[in-house]
This record gives sequence, C-alpha cells and structure tokens, in this order.
Amino acid sequence: MTLPAAGAAKKVFVKTYGCQMNVYDSQRMSDALAAEGYAGTDRIEDADLVLLNTCHIREKAAEKIYSELGRIRDLKADRASRGLETVVGVAGCVAQAEGREIIRRQPAVDLVIGPQTYHRLPEALRKARNGDKVVETDYAIEDKFEHLPKPRRSEIVGRGVTAFLTVQEGCDKFCTFCVVPYTRGSEVSRPVAQIVAEAEKLAEAGVREVTLLGQNVNAWHGGGPDGGEWGLGRLLARLAEIPGIARLRYTTSHPRDMDDQLIEAHRDLAALMPYLHLPVQSGSDRILKAMNRRHTTADYVGLIERIRAARPDVAISGDFIVGFPGETDADFDATLELVRTIGYAQAFSFKYSPRPGTPGAELKDQVAEAVKDERLQRLQALLSRQQRDFTAAMAGRVIDALIEKPGRQPGQRVGRSPWLQPVIIDETVGEIGDIVSVRITRTGQTSLFAEPA
Ligand code: 5AD
Ligand code: SF4
Repeated sequence: MTLPAAGAAKKVFVKTYGCQMNVYDSQRMSDALAAEGYAGTDRIEDADLVLLNTCHIREKAAEKIYSELGRIRDLKADRASRGLETVVGVAGCVAQAEGREIIRRQPAVDLVIGPQTYHRLPEALRKARNGDKVVETDYAIEDKFEHLPKPRRSEIVGRGVTAFLTVQEGCDKFCTFCVVPYTRGSEVSRPVAQIVAEAEKLAEAGVREVTLLGQNVNAWHGGGPDGGEWGLGRLLARLAEIPGIARLRYTTSHPRDMDDQLIEAHRDLAALMPYLHLPVQSGSDRILKAMNRRHTTADYVGLIERIRAARPDVAISGDFIVGFPGETDADFDATLELVRTIGYAQAFSFKYSPRPGTPGAELKDQVAEAVKDERLQRLQALLSRQQRDFTAAMAGRVIDALIEKPGRQPGQRVGRSPWLQPVIIDETVGEIGDIVSVRITRTGQTSLFAEPA
C-alpha cells in the first residue's frame, strides 16, 4: 500500500485585490503559512487553502469577491468529491467590513480574517481545519508586525529587486467617501528599528528599490534611536544609508501631512525618486470641504509648487473622484482646471461609489450614474493625454534605469525609470539589479524603449 509522502506540503493559492498594501500583506501571510508547511501554488484547483485578499474601496471590488467565491464553492465541491479538503479564507478589507456576513452569503467560506489580525492566521486556520467557521475581525491590541514572522532571506530572494515595506497603517482623516478608517482602523506607525531591520533584510536579499507603504504614509512618525521624534523625511534619510538600497519611494500621501522635512528630503536625498503620488480628489473647494479633505485647491497648488522648487524633475501623480454627492458641472470644471494647472505624469480616477457606513453615502444629492460616466470619460481623456505627453517628452533623454526582470519579448529586459515607467532594453545591457544609464529611443503610452547611453 502506498501512503502519501510524510509531510507532503499543503498548497495555498493566494489572490490579491486592491492596493499595494494588500500585495505586501499577502506576502507576509504567505511567509506565515510557509512556516506552517504551506507552499504557494498558481493553480487554484490544486490548493488545500484558497485565500482571497480583498479590497473594499469601491462597490465593484466587493461584488467581484462574491462572484469569485461562487466559483470557488464549485471547486471546493469538486475537490470534496475526490476526498480532498479545501479551506476557503477571505482576508483584507471586505473581510473586515463584512465579517460574518460573508459566510452567510457564501457558506463555502470557512475563514474570515481582517487586516489587523493576520498574525493570528495560523491559529485561525487550525480551527477552520477542525470544522469551525472562524471570523477574526477584532482590532488586535498586540502589534501584528511584531508577531508575523520576520521575512527570511530565502523567502525574499527571487521576489525581485523592488519591494514594498509597510511602515504605517490605518487612517484618522475620515474623508467622507472613504472606508479605510473603518476597515484598516486608526493610524499606527511601525517603530524605526523594525523598519530599518526589515529594509536591511531586503537589501541583503538583493532588493535595490524599496517603496514605503502606508494609507497615509507621510503621517508616519516614530521614536528614533537618538531619542527624538522622527518624521518620514528622517526615516527616508536613514534608509538611504543602507548599503544596496539605491532607490526609495513612498505612497500614498495626504496633502496635509507633507511637512517641510519631507519636502527637503526630496531636495537632499538622491535615493528618493522624483515621483510623488499626492491625491487631491477634486479641484472644487466646495467639494473638498464636503469630502472633509481639510485643505483648499490653492493649498494643494502651493504645496506642489514648493515640492517642484525642491526637486524640479519631480513627477506628480494623483487620485480623483468624479460625481461626489452635490458635484455640479462648475465643480467638475474646476477639477479639469486643476488638472491642467498641475500637469500629471499619471493619475487614477474613479466614479464616486457610496460606501455603506461612510458619511458620503448618507448625502441626499447623489449624482446620476450617466453624469458620473460622462465626467469620468472627460477627465480620463485629459489625464491620459497628459500621461502620453509626459512619456513622449522622455524621447532622446539619457536616464537611469533599474533593470528589473526579463521582458515579454525574447532578448529583452524590463527596467524601471525614476518616474515609474517601464524601460524596455536589450538583455545584453547590465544584469538584473543594475542601475544603468540609457538613452530613450522611442516612447509608448507609458513605456520607454532604450539603448545603452
Ligand atoms: N468612491 C470612489 N473612489 C474612492 N476612492 C476611495 N473611496 C472611494 C469611493 N467611495 C478612491 C480615492 C482614493 C483611492 C485609493 O480610491 O481616489 O485616493
Ligand atoms: Fe481614505 Fe482620506 Fe484616509 Fe486616504 S486620507 S485613506 S482617502 S480617509
């Protein structure tokens, strides 16, 4: 009789939706599961554990999860008919917002776990495998980062030369459209020593470019080893000293938290890339007020001017919402005007989606869907023109590219420009992880084609 090999690894399939913080969290959950004997798989039908790391920022995001869970239910039934166990888990912001409701709507789900409790995943998984339905959505008092396994070199190697590092989580701003303060909780900053140690690990594993993550990353603050209170500018300066780390970025920022030190860091730190994602959401002061953004359009323009004075080649990226309740044609025109004033290298724009439990959802003068559609189209046309112009202006220039990975075409590699553009270059140029000087020969909507300079 043949027995299954002792200790044969269980397999986990993780699917990540939404923001970069979810990407980071998925990696840390995979690390925690690896310690429990789970190996990752890309084939969902082979998975003993299916984990969806979800996003709740807009309506469609949550609905997508429920339809995906419907397909997973069928898969689970099919595996059960072959005597195979499948644990179905939902993590992320939908898990936090909907909790037990997910299991009510889709009983095939065994485990619901919110972002503040990922360090409890192994224990929750054991309970689920015993047949319990597990819902873990408390705001844990203990620090999840302290309890999650530290990334190990072997786990980082092969993930590439760029990496995310979460330094801050949660948000206290309560913009009236946004669920984040409810799903991710209030602002928490990780301590300096923890962040430095993790960045050193990444550097040892060959990472050259680190992007610091936080819902409000520029609100990060922490006690430094000198006993003083550090802001993000100081932290970036410290990380820039780590051998091997050549490039730093941070995202996402709130205009109210861009302090002088951080703006000076853009002037003084060569490692800090000239690219800033600074969402404004709307160009109408009336709407900004209704959104509880707590700044005006003029504040934002003035801030961008100061950042550009500190670092003239900085590219600005942003987020916009069209059709917030009460938005008139004049309000929307003011948004288009602001976009023309700033000139964005890249931007994301969305139709307002009322999120249950947020103040915006209670407002009476909701904007008709057709109006939102039309405004979104006009805004996106303008933003995409600006992006194309920004990219086209790179033609003929000599820039640095970080060689990142093999390209789609044989013989090519893809690098990354300081402004987050993919740079397509011949594979004979440098090695993966090298930063090389290249001349841009041709440009696409977002990509740059380059030869050695
Ligand atoms: N509707 C539409 N867009 C939203 N965003 C956040 N909440 C909503 C919502 N309810 C957008 C904002 C934010 C980005 C991450 O998602 O532009 O900056
Ligand atoms: Fe949401 Fe506003 Fe906080 Fe950003 S700053 S996460 S938009 S509440």
